[in-house]
This record gives sequence, C-alpha cells and structure tokens, in this order.
Amino acid sequence: MRITLLQGDITAQRVDAVVNAANSSLLGGGGVDGAIHRRGGPAILEECRKLRASHYGRGLPTGQAVATTAGELPARWVIHTVGPVYSAGEDRSELLASCYRESLRVADELGAASVAFPAVSTGIFGWPMDDAARIAVGTVRATPARVEEARFVLFTADAYAAFERALVTG
Ligand code: APR
Repeated sequence: MRITLLQGDITAQRVDAVVNAANSSLLGGGGVDGAIHRRGGPAILEECRKLRASHYGRGLPTGQAVATTAGELPARWVIHTVGPVYSAGEDRSELLASCYRESLRVADELGAASVAFPAVSTGIFGWPMDDAARIAVGTVRATPARVEEARFVLFTADAYAAFERALVTG
C-alpha cells in the first residue's frame, strides 16, 4: 500500500472512498463532517439515518467505521468513523488507531483501491496533531489491506508537516 500526503480539501478527492471524521450520531456536524455532508448532499445523510434506524440505534461507537454512498462527492463511498475526543488524563490512542484500522477493513470489504483520510480527532476533538499523525501513519503502515493508496489529506501546512515528520520517523 502506497501512503501519500496532500494538503487540500478531502471533499475534492477523486478516490474510491473518503473517510469522514464523524460523531457517533452519524447525523452530521462541523469540520470534515460538515464539509462532506454539504458537498456530498442529502443522499449521505439519508443513508446515515437508515444506519441509525437499523444497525446503530445507539450511534456508531468510537473507533468503529461504516460506509455509505458518497452522494455528489467525486468518490464512490464515504467511510464514517468516530474518533476519540482527546484526553490528557486517559490514553485513548488505541481508539484512534482503531479508526484507521476499521476504515481500511471497510475499504477492503467495499473493494476500494484508494482511500482518503483526514487527520481524525485533531480538530473539534482536540487531539495534538503530531501525536495523531504518528498514530495515523503508524497504524496505516502496520495494517495489511488490499487498498493500493492511502492518501492523508491535510487541511493546513502545519498538519501536512506533522504527517511528513510521522512518515519519515515512523
Ligand atoms: N478537508 C480535509 N481536512 C479538513 C477539512 C476538509 N474539508 N475540514 C477540516 N479538516 C481538518 C481539520 O483541520 C482537522 O485537522 O480535519 C481534521 C479533523 O477535524 P474535525 O473535522 O473537527 O474532526 P474531529 O476533530 O475528528 O472532530 C469530530 O467534529 O465535525 C464534528 O461531527 C463531527 O462531532 C464530530 C467532531
């Protein structure tokens, strides 16, 4: 699996699957979640609602991942994953790693060859960027998958630099 970095908007990525930094309600939010629903259109939310009504009555648990259509996005699927909220007092690294592992597992189930990841949990959920980058790159590197390209799409130059460091030092 090739790991690539790109600074830009994840909703513009022409990949098979775009990973959404969702919350457990699956009913939208700000940041990546807001951008994906805004640009992807109502079809995504419609499928999220069906998932809530069928498999995820209490919401998608942290660290898990589930796929829906990508609606109007230039992608085939959105893989929604719920990152952990950062806590200085409790090590939730395994839950953050699980977001990437589970997203790759779902991507393989779909037969996705390319997957775009945001820096999960580093926005509203407050995870320090360098540590999140280390976990993200380390987990994707260590997870066997049929996915051919894992593309980290970073919104800022600082985030991009953090992921570059994680790639080099990993
Ligand atoms: N493309 C790529 N990256 C983006 C984009 C975008 N369009 N918009 C924001 N980001 C970056 C942020 O700068 C941050 O580095 O994605 C990272 C994750 O930030 P959030 O989207 O805030 O996600 P997270 O920290 O995981 O918090 C999830 O926020 O939007 C709500 O509903 C969501 O409750 C959930 C929470």
